[in-house]
Amino acid sequence: MHPKSTDHLQGMGKNILNPTLARQRFMGFALHTDRMMPSREICIRRLQTGINPIKSAAKIDSACTNRYYPRPISSPNHSVRMRTPVIAGNWKMNGSVEMARSLCGDLIEGLRTAGDNASRIEVLLCPPATLLGQVSRAIADSQIRCGSQDIDERESGAFTGQISASMVIDAGGTHTLVGHSERRTLFGETDEVVARKTSAALRANLTPVVCIGETREEREAEQTNAVVGRQISAIVRHCGADVFRNAIIAYEPVWAIGTGLTATPEQAQETHRFIRQLLAAEDSAIAEGCRILYGGSMKPDNAPDLLAQTDIDGGLIGGASLNSKDFFAICAAAIEQAA
Ligand code: PGA
Repeated sequence: MHPKSTDHLQGMGKNILNPTLARQRFMGFALHTDRMMPSREICIRRLQTGINPIKSAAKIDSACTNRYYPRPISSPNHSVRMRTPVIAGNWKMNGSVEMARSLCGDLIEGLRTAGDNASRIEVLLCPPATLLGQVSRAIADSQIRCGSQDIDERESGAFTGQISASMVIDAGGTHTLVGHSERRTLFGETDEVVARKTSAALRANLTPVVCIGETREEREAEQTNAVVGRQISAIVRHCGADVFRNAIIAYEPVWAIGTGLTATPEQAQETHRFIRQLLAAEDSAIAEGCRILYGGSMKPDNAPDLLAQTDIDGGLIGGASLNSKDFFAICAAAIEQAA
């Protein structure tokens, strides 16, 4: 049980944060409430945040104002949202049958030694597709879940080399990454493709981990908010904000991935908070519940400070997930934080 306070969202408007929303499950979380409408103040504030003064903010805002009528919320309430941290490993194009066997064994043993406390977090492994079946069998009796690193947006057919969401489920996966920056930059995936993949995952009952983040040039040009705003708004436009009731977001500054450079906890928190504010402008309950992971050179030594940030709900780990000791150390930091 982890008290990640969402008090800061109270300042976003007069939305009610409902205490009954304080539970999440691994396969998503149930929200038992009426949909919250963004207030007029939120709509105005969104125009003032400079999300993307030219395009994206206008799109998000017009989506918001066209779809919902701002209305006053009559009974302001207060609650603390519990978001279960997720520690996810992205093996990328690494791994072998032997490595998968020994890493899963070590991880299961590590989590066993953490006892009941281990259930405070969710652990996810995203091996290459060739190892998905094996990893899923190895973790079958544990709290660990597994998923793919990508899916095709289509369900089946003559698409040589591709795998579909239902194939991932068939192999024992429960999650999939979508829109990892390496897919975006090396394989030309656009925001729209990522949105369609997000939708395909959810249609098949696979939890998408939607990766977003800015390049170094974009950060230097102070475009971070504009970029993540554009990436989120493409998904909202295509699938509706409701997808974030089930989807997980991974904020991964591209300049920090595999480089050894990490966003400072403050830099990461600032962007995570901004992302949550974007969601809050759509629906405060969705913002309150959505897990936003940080990715980009997360290691055992920087994980505690990153995971301590209010709006950081776990990590998507590349390099350090290939070493069971390092990956478990990050899990242990998350367990500790969640105490
Ligand atoms: P890294 O990778 O931890 O090696 O920086 C993160 C990722 O690409 O998901």
